[in-house]
Amino acid sequence: MKKFKVVPPPYKIKVVEPIKIISRREREEAIKKAGYNTFLLQSSNIYIDLLTDSGTSAMSDNQWAGMMSGDEAYAGSKNFYNLEKAVRDIYGYKYVVPTHQGRAAEHIMSKLLIKPGDYIPNNMYFTTRRQHQELAGGIWFDVSIEEAHNAANPYPFKGNVDLEKLEKLIKEVGKDKIPFMSLEANVNMAGGQPFSMENLGNLRNLCNKYDIPIMHDATRVVENAYFIQQREKGYQNKSVREIVKEICSYTDGATVSAKKDALVNIGGFLACNDEKLYEEARNMVVVFEGLHTYGGLAGRDMEAMARGIYEMVDDQHIAARVNQIEYLGNQLLEKGVPVVVPIGGHGVFLDAKRFLPHVPQEQYPAQALTAAIYIEGGVRGMERGIVSAGRDPKTGEERKPRLELVRLAVPRRVYTNTQMDIVAEAIINIYKIRKKISGLKIVFEPKFLRFFQARFKTLGSKLIE
Ligand code: F0G
Repeated sequence: MKKFKVVPPPYKIKVVEPIKIISRREREEAIKKAGYNTFLLQSSNIYIDLLTDSGTSAMSDNQWAGMMSGDEAYAGSKNFYNLEKAVRDIYGYKYVVPTHQGRAAEHIMSKLLIKPGDYIPNNMYFTTRRQHQELAGGIWFDVSIEEAHNAANPYPFKGNVDLEKLEKLIKEVGKDKIPFMSLEANVNMAGGQPFSMENLGNLRNLCNKYDIPIMHDATRVVENAYFIQQREKGYQNKSVREIVKEICSYTDGATVSAKKDALVNIGGFLACNDEKLYEEARNMVVVFEGLHTYGGLAGRDMEAMARGIYEMVDDQHIAARVNQIEYLGNQLLEKGVPVVVPIGGHGVFLDAKRFLPHVPQEQYPAQALTAAIYIEGGVRGMERGIVSAGRDPKTGEERKPRLELVRLAVPRRVYTNTQMDIVAEAIINIYKIRKKISGLKIVFEPKFLRFFQARFKTLGSKLIE
């Protein structure tokens, strides 16, 4: 294997937050009490928290300074106009409606555009996005490529759309039944995998042919743009900032959770180029979130977001961010631990099907592995398999995704590579004793997005024999 080269991070640490590791006995107790669901753990019981990269970034001194210039006027806050300018400058969309986070924008977009019985093609699914599409009466339809469902396939653009599948759907149901193509950048559930500009260009042509708009989940578009810069011919000399703009120019609108790329702890927005959709969204946000110049956010939050949007497209920042994840992923690959390849943009994803081949999918192997990793190292990850996929709204049957993964999502600018070494060590230790890990049974599940609150019990007396 080629020697790994670390990209120097373009920052130093000014403030630190103490963390501690509790004893193994205490961790066993804590996870049992949490129903073997890492979402139900208290964060004080966690040493390294890789539950999510959402809202967990370290803000810069410039962003914190922006917090002090929060204009908390109910209407027309100057921070809103700064945010609007940042979105126009960097993403290039004309109109911006702020929301408190991504799912609020998804809610508004789904309610406005989807009629009951409509089909919504998606390049794989994201939990909240699909939930809102279904709550609006839409039928989620997968147009991700085959390669995306195979954790071991190193195809560089697993986020691509299968254009044949999409055209077949359009011909079968008719374009009037498809309000928009739902396109996610750097597909989260596939393991943080990008689409290529070539595929996006072809998608644009196909959608033009049938007059179908493309609505972009641009939550992780910066990571997608970085991979295009690194992997796609003709983009090596373009900046991530230019590539982000080009991607967005092929789409008609977007929902964004600014808690990821944009380096803030809270915030999101809906953006579009169509004035009519903007007018409707700006009206609906008042009902669910707040006035269209704050959308559920404080002025200071909008200012931090505006500044984060400029910081996120710094080439050195994004190169160092993705490099840290590759640093962790490579250590696991070297020891033969099965992970999704290529290593993703926001986290390392363990392939629980190959990690725990003795645990059938009905016994929630990724959920069990997530709990075992917490017990071993005080490291918190998240299940991204059958539990996250939930149930089919029509039949009530469990959806069985082909990917059964544990996600170790890395917050931006928060942990050092030394801490990544500690994570790698814990996972390698667990890999050595993997045969001793048993499955789980579900004892409680809520109606929506069950992975957040479901509870489990071990099948035998202990999770790790
Ligand atoms: N879209 C994508 C691709 C996401 O990853 C998320 C959130 C959302 C939309 C919703 O945004 O949380 O601000 O309401 N993902 C988080 C995660 C929760 O851990 O992956 P939100």
